[in-house]
Amino acid sequence: MQAIPSLPADLACQLLNWYDAGSRTLPWRSDPRPYYVWLSEIMLQQTRVEAATPYFERFILELPTIADLAAAPEQQLLKLWEGLGYYNRVRNLQRAAQIVVDTYGGELPADFELLLQLPGVGRYSAGAIASIAFGLPVPAVDGNVLRVLSRVLESPAPIDREETKRQMGVAISRQLPPDRPGDFNQALMELGAMVCLPNGAPRCEICPLCPLCLAHHNGTISEYPRKAPKKARRCETRTVLVLFRRGEVAIRQRPATGLLRGLWELPNLEGALTPEEIRKLLADWGLSAGYPVALGEARHIFTHLEWQMTGWAVAVEGEPVQPLLFVPPEQLREEFCLPSAFHAYADRIPGLIKELQYDNHS
Ligand code: ADE
Repeated sequence: MQAIPSLPADLACQLLNWYDAGSRTLPWRSDPRPYYVWLSEIMLQQTRVEAATPYFERFILELPTIADLAAAPEQQLLKLWEGLGYYNRVRNLQRAAQIVVDTYGGELPADFELLLQLPGVGRYSAGAIASIAFGLPVPAVDGNVLRVLSRVLESPAPIDREETKRQMGVAISRQLPPDRPGDFNQALMELGAMVCLPNGAPRCEICPLCPLCLAHHNGTISEYPRKAPKKARRCETRTVLVLFRRGEVAIRQRPATGLLRGLWELPNLEGALTPEEIRKLLADWGLSAGYPVALGEARHIFTHLEWQMTGWAVAVEGEPVQPLLFVPPEQLREEFCLPSAFHAYADRIPGLIKELQYDNHS
């Protein structure tokens, strides 16, 4: 792979002037204590600032310190993360918090290499925490930064390769202003999120780096960033069951390993089952079933897998031989963490109860 060329010398100055003139006020910027920066960066790996902010506020309200996070019951953590997806991230966050309590007296270490050793902290997060919370001169290269730099440099290096991230990090390190590394890193991220937008919609007319940007100059913005060809995502057809028994809904816990491990789910099976097959299956589970009502199709995309789901609501009676837990809908909403994959059907539970009178069984 070709080496990434140097960044323009006045990039830092242009960028920081722009950042100072109007960066967003965010809770973890107003109070950049290491715990807040760490938590926000893990959340922001998977969602946008607008979506992450309410999760962040709720999280620090319920778990105000790293020691609180280390000691929290797993179900509380999962509930605080519900809807963000990638639940292993919050489990890693807790494992890391426990190490921080045991090893560092409850304070994150101000050291890039030590941060990198914590579960769930990769080069990006370690760089963000080290630079933003501790003012250390290390880069933090996320997707936004890669997009900005690929365009500024007209770099053909595929941004989904580790080697590209490493080289971009080296290029940034050479430009990092020693007095404001955290602001510099955040300004690059902010520019990517607010101005140098993906998918052909960049706002070059307001970009502070426009005069330095090779792709803008050559009219090639839409060709950058480049990515390596992707492997196709595997598709799985699944049948999702919303089982009602006297006003309660069935959920079950997923296995302790694999996809969505340990989380609660609506019962679901591989394949697109017919209503007759569903009734036969429920009979095998020890439940007598009414006629299934179609809830339509829904899709959920995981990193390497797509579920194409068909949902069915069914009134059932009897004691299941399967490990199903019947819970009132309010309790399901308030106490259990149901992954987003099931929300298309779970969101319909209150309406279905009324519409189909599934609370009238007793
Ligand atoms: N995306 C991830 N972290 C960010 C930060 N600190 N500022 C702006 N955008 C971000």
